[in-house]
Formats: sequence, C-alpha cells, structure tokens
Amino acid sequence: MLWLVLSTVFLGNSVAGSPAPVPDGELVGIIGGDSAPQGKWPWQVSLRVYAYHWASWVHICGGSLVHPRWVLTAAHCISRKEADPSAYRIHAGDVYLYGGKALLNVSRVIVHPDYVSAGLGADIALLQLSDAAEGAANVKPVRLSSAPLEVTPEDQCWVTGWGSIGMHEPLPPPYRLQQVAVRVVENGVCDQLYHNVSSEHHQLGKIIQDDMLCAGTEGRDSCYGDSGGPLVCKVKHVWYLVGVVSWGYGCGWRDAPGVYARVQTYEPWITRQIQSHP
Ligand SMILES: *[C@@H]1O[C@H](CO)[C@@H](O)[C@H](O)[C@H]1NC(C)=O
Ligand SMILES: *[C@@H]1O[C@H](CO)[C@@H](O)[C@H](O)[C@H]1NC(C)=O
Repeated sequence: MLWLVLSTVFLGNSVAGSPAPVPDGELVGIIGGDSAPQGKWPWQVSLRVYAYHWASWVHICGGSLVHPRWVLTAAHCISRKEADPSAYRIHAGDVYLYGGKALLNVSRVIVHPDYVSAGLGADIALLQLSDAAEGAANVKPVRLSSAPLEVTPEDQCWVTGWGSIGMHEPLPPPYRLQQVAVRVVENGVCDQLYHNVSSEHHQLGKIIQDDMLCAGTEGRDSCYGDSGGPLVCKVKHVWYLVGVVSWGYGCGWRDAPGVYARVQTYEPWITRQIQSHP
C-alpha cells in the first residue's frame, strides 16, 4: 500500500539522519492555492529539525498552536514515540518560512499512544513549548471544539502550509505560506473513493477510519510537507481546527481527497494532556 505512506517515508528519512535537501520538494504543499496574507492564519507553525547538510533548522511539517504553549501536529512527523524534544524547533508568526524569526524551543513531545502509522489513524502528536508563544504579533492559538462540530461540504474550510505546490514541485523561494479553500468530503464517500483508487478494490473493512476526515477536490489539496498542518473551518463566524494533514494518494487528484486526522475525535485527549502538563 505505497500510497498510504508517501509523506511518512520522506519525513521518516529526513528525521533518521539522512536529510534530503530541503529545496528538493518532498519535504517542503498546497495544491491550487495562493499566498496567505500575514496574520490570517496565526496558529500556523512550521516544525523544524536540524539538518547537518544545510547547517540549519529545516521545515519538515506544519502544525497548529492550540494553546499558547502547545502545538498540535501529525504523529508521523515525529521520528519515534520517545523523541527528544531538543531535536525540534517551532517557527511561528511569519508567513515566510526562513524570514529570520527566532525559533521556539520544545520541552515535551507527546505522540498519541494509539499511533502506529498514518494509514491506521491516531496520527496526532503534541509538542509543548518551553516558553509561551503568546503576545507576539501574528501568533494566536486556534480553537478546538469540545461539542460535536458537524462539518458539512457547505462549510468554509481552508488548509494551509509550506508544502509542495505540485506532485514534483516544491514551494519556491521566498517560501511564503500557501492557502487553499477545500471542501469536506463525507467519510462514506471518501472511503469508497479510496477503495476505488487503490488496487485493493475488494479490500474488506474501512480505509478511511472514523478518526479521519477527508477534504479536497481535483486541483485543491494538501501535499508533501503540509503534514501536521491545519484544516480549519469557519462555523458561526469562528475558526475551528477540524483536521491535521495526515496522508493521501497523490496530491490534488480528482478521486482521492486529502486525508486528515479528525481533531474532534481527539479533543478530549488533547485537553487532558494540556491540563496534566502545566
Ligand atoms: C533553546 O535551546 C537551546 C539549546 O538548549 C538554547 O541554547 C537556547 O538559548 C534556547 N532558546 C531559547 C529562546 O530559550
Ligand atoms: C467506485 O467505483 C464503482 C464501480 O466502478 C462506481 O460505481 C462508484 O460510483 C465509485 N464510487 C465513487 C465514490 O466514485
């Protein structure tokens, strides 16, 4: 099932010590988007790891501030469950990826205990910051909903990130954050699309699990390097974090929407972690 792990493979390699050159594409996408205005998505962060080859902290994934001291990202962006927090840095408050903003330190990494691989679900992780990111310009946590938030294809949802802008097309300098409006695809429909698109037509059971959410249509999608980043929807004038970029079959294909970790499912777990690690 090669299609399940495209982003995982690339990210896994980079974290394991053989960093691919960043401008190479796989790591550093939003398909069909445009440049995000400064401050429009103040919860968007970039997760960095140190690349010896570049002698700098390079972007590997997106993430969202869900609290002044906490970032929610995808579990597959973290090399392993017992990851060393000092191996990560967080960039916040600037749409330009390498704009010279000071990076924030991470003091704790918590990968969801049920996570095995992105294709199996529970693809979320929390990073606690050493210092609160609050107060800075263009930095503000996004809301999570504790009440069931039924997102329908009619709601206004956007995905943002610094990932590839085409299957083999990295985001070019000056690496400005991209945004695209996407439509949520109902789980049952998405599951059928994925059964159709995979060679395993007769695969029993669900491909799109209940803790996943699909969004995107032909030419409007997330891509490599967007993993961990936010899918937000505006419900009653308030932006809510609804999904975490997780996996997909290609990018922007008609019959394969992007697949996200369904934040609603994990809201109780997220809140519990934040409360138990003040
Ligand atoms: C982040 O951690 C590094 C290494 O421990 C340290 O040198 C640096 O001062 C820290 N930065 C901040 C802003 O705390
Ligand atoms: C999946 O394929 C079947 C058979 O080709 C087709 O009837 C069905 O409409 C497809 N499902 C979707 C959601 O496209």
